[in-house]
Amino acid sequence: MTNYPSALRTPLSRADFGPGFQWGCSTSSFQIEGGAQAGGRVPSIWDTFCEQPGVIRDGSDGKVACDHYHRWPEDMDLGKAMGLNAYRFSISWPRIMSAPGAAPNEEGLQFYSDLIDGVLARGLVPWVTLYHWDLPQYLQDAGGWSSRDTVAAFVHYADVVTRRLGSRVKHWITHNEPWCTAIHGNFDGMHAPGLKSLPTALQVCHHVLLSHGLAVPVIRANVPGARVGIALSLHPVMPASDTPQDLEAVARHDAFRNRWFLDPLYGRGFPADTLALMGDAAPVMQPGDVEAIAVPTDFLGVNYYFPEVVRHDPAGGFLATRVIHPEGRERTDFGWEVAPQGMTDLLLRIARDYQPGEMYVTENGSSYDDVVQADGSIEDHARRHYLVRHLQAVRTAQEQGVPVKGYFAWSLLDNFEWSEGYLRRFGLAYVDFATQRRTLKLSGQWYRDFLHGAA
Ligand code: FCB
Repeated sequence: MTNYPSALRTPLSRADFGPGFQWGCSTSSFQIEGGAQAGGRVPSIWDTFCEQPGVIRDGSDGKVACDHYHRWPEDMDLGKAMGLNAYRFSISWPRIMSAPGAAPNEEGLQFYSDLIDGVLARGLVPWVTLYHWDLPQYLQDAGGWSSRDTVAAFVHYADVVTRRLGSRVKHWITHNEPWCTAIHGNFDGMHAPGLKSLPTALQVCHHVLLSHGLAVPVIRANVPGARVGIALSLHPVMPASDTPQDLEAVARHDAFRNRWFLDPLYGRGFPADTLALMGDAAPVMQPGDVEAIAVPTDFLGVNYYFPEVVRHDPAGGFLATRVIHPEGRERTDFGWEVAPQGMTDLLLRIARDYQPGEMYVTENGSSYDDVVQADGSIEDHARRHYLVRHLQAVRTAQEQGVPVKGYFAWSLLDNFEWSEGYLRRFGLAYVDFATQRRTLKLSGQWYRDFLHGAA
């Protein structure tokens, strides 16, 4: 443990957040596992995407990543040493379902069964995400999420996984960030499968939400005592100026970025104004879909990174908005605005407008260009400062009555950051990708000390 001078001690302690608060780190399968061909895994859309020249900034892929597939015991030892009591990870669908209509892949299920035993043995509560963007390629070949058949395929996959693992895993997250699945994957093409079609993206968005709604009762049926939710990427939306045009732009932008997901999930249906703006690009929905999406859940997962500043822009797509990046704001080395107040505002707003029974910050973190010192240490003061201030922001929301019951830092390890490859480091532990050596950064040491009541 570090001996902190009193001036550096945080005016917060683990205990302030309440008993049973979940203290975790988050990861996702494609970003850390590697083992691309191990255990009968078949290609995902990300394997295919990475083969396209120019789409991943450093030309890399996820074939090895953090080699977590082979090194998970060491990684879980690290989580335990940090004092975590929870660990959020995702299951790789292509490890479980190898081909359309095939029997589940026993080796894939066994990998996760062993991992879960390892997580539990170290005193951590496993939080499992079923879909964190690695769709089997064979499903994409048949239309991917734009096909309604993928909804049924997801529900079947969720059924297989929860039957097998549900006696030990109680916390289930259906989807991670449907906005990203839909928009980055199918509209701006930044993510796999790299499509650039608004109608496709909006149809994908609908099917992802529908698959959530249809999977929840299946998970509940398979898992006694299940706690089920979804993790959304949510952003406070701020105006570039106080002109009426920019204020209206904020409302339109917010309606798609946030309310398009929250409203139907919490039984209000899709925002009608946004649906009208979509015009011919609006998704095809069937009777009963909206009701299915509104299935009650046990918690909302909030992934918060940064607020968005928008202005009115007639050339800005169906929303006629543009996200701008004003000068003079604190930013990470990735360029993401650092705005802890946004965390408090967001949590308060969701609690006020939707009253989810419980909320968990399922992701929050920062990417800085870490420098390894001669002695091997990584003195990421900026990341530690980010973490401290965001925890304070969560506590402020809690003090105002928001039922936040956990915080998962993104991420346990530096990893494959999607189209940025290995150029963006979000880990509390540094990964030397040449040697696979893990080193707890100063921020990770601070989190460890905080969780042990010593920071
Ligand atoms: C989130 C993703 C996660 C990671 C962080 C930095 O949007 O869910 O996988 O890439 O951003």
